[in-house]
Amino acid sequence: MYRSVFKPILFRFFSAEKAHHLAFFSLKILKYLFFLKPILKYYFSISNQKKINVAGISFPNQVGLAAGFDKNAEAIDELALLGFGFIEIGTVTPKPQAGNPSPRLFRLPKDLAIINRMGFNNDGLEKIIQRLKKRKSKVVVGGNIGKNKDTPNEKAIDDYLICLKGLYEYVDYFTVNVSSPNTPNLRQLQEKEPLLALLKTLQNEVKNQVNNQKKSKPIFLKIAPDLTQTQLEEIVEVVIESNLAGIIATNTTIQRTDLLTSMSEIEAIGAGGLSGLPVRERATQVIDFLKQKSQNKFAIIGVGGIFSGEDAQQKLNAGADLVQVYTGLIYQGPNLVKNILKKIR
Ligand SMILES: Cc1cc2nc3c(=O)[nH]c(=O)nc-3n(C[C@H](O)[C@H](O)[C@H](O)COP(=O)(O)O)c2cc1C
Repeated sequence: MYRSVFKPILFRFFSAEKAHHLAFFSLKILKYLFFLKPILKYYFSISNQKKINVAGISFPNQVGLAAGFDKNAEAIDELALLGFGFIEIGTVTPKPQAGNPSPRLFRLPKDLAIINRMGFNNDGLEKIIQRLKKRKSKVVVGGNIGKNKDTPNEKAIDDYLICLKGLYEYVDYFTVNVSSPNTPNLRQLQEKEPLLALLKTLQNEVKNQVNNQKKSKPIFLKIAPDLTQTQLEEIVEVVIESNLAGIIATNTTIQRTDLLTSMSEIEAIGAGGLSGLPVRERATQVIDFLKQKSQNKFAIIGVGGIFSGEDAQQKLNAGADLVQVYTGLIYQGPNLVKNILKKIR
């Protein structure tokens, strides 16, 4: 139904960002259509799901929604009806920010891809906390945190710390996003020294929370697919040294190689992170590399170009404990979650 009816309409008549808002609006309306909820829940659920314990959390299944789709925690309960085992909100920044000017989201249908330069548009920590307080579903929720655009890198730790403290009670795990290409210089925080300082500070805060009788919450690091082997090795060292729960691999790429979309179209679109099919192989390679180097000391969440159960299985085979989807959902529709779950069951 999505691919034969909704997608052609959305792709033909609406810009990528408008289509996202429309799809999102439809989801939010579900809040008021009580009779539809059990039907959806029944339709999207599958039997014999594989529960899995990762980083001390019991996930009802291995398929999650990647960050960036529900940046503001507006539709967690409705998204949970689609069968996700976990939902990652954000990226959340301390202050609200508008992000980059539109247009900033582009479809590349020939490549089954998207380019985005949203730039961490979000409602800011306070509003997002208020929404999280109201959520009803028990689905596992991750809080993806970042820094405001106008915060210099030297002060970035403060922003991440503010978000971690603010969200602490309301999410099940954290993701430290230092890999978005759309916030100037953010990815420099993936370098060894600043990264170690950042992660140690956040881990210390988790210890403080535990000392104050709060539950320990695992922290994941989200990395770019564009890192060299040496950079990846350094990241593994930092993750092990700071005793992090795991790595999310990967964010979007700044590469534009081997695309079917013409070079002139790509140039007209301009800067941004590319997601979808073109990052599939690279993300899997990164997962494979991380798994080999991990000494089983941290978990891996695999994301990038998952469009089918087979794609998800490849990420799991490469060493991922869990997977997330985003662009695949735009092209395949919500049935994707069910299809993946059936395949990996
Ligand atoms: C429109 C859009 C917005 C995104 N926003 C975020 C974000 O705010 N934070 C983040 O960590 N990742 C963000 N991502 C990256 C995705 O979470 C994911 O890592 C990436 O798109 C690769 O997965 P995919 O090929 O399944 O889309 C965004 C991706 C897209 C397409």
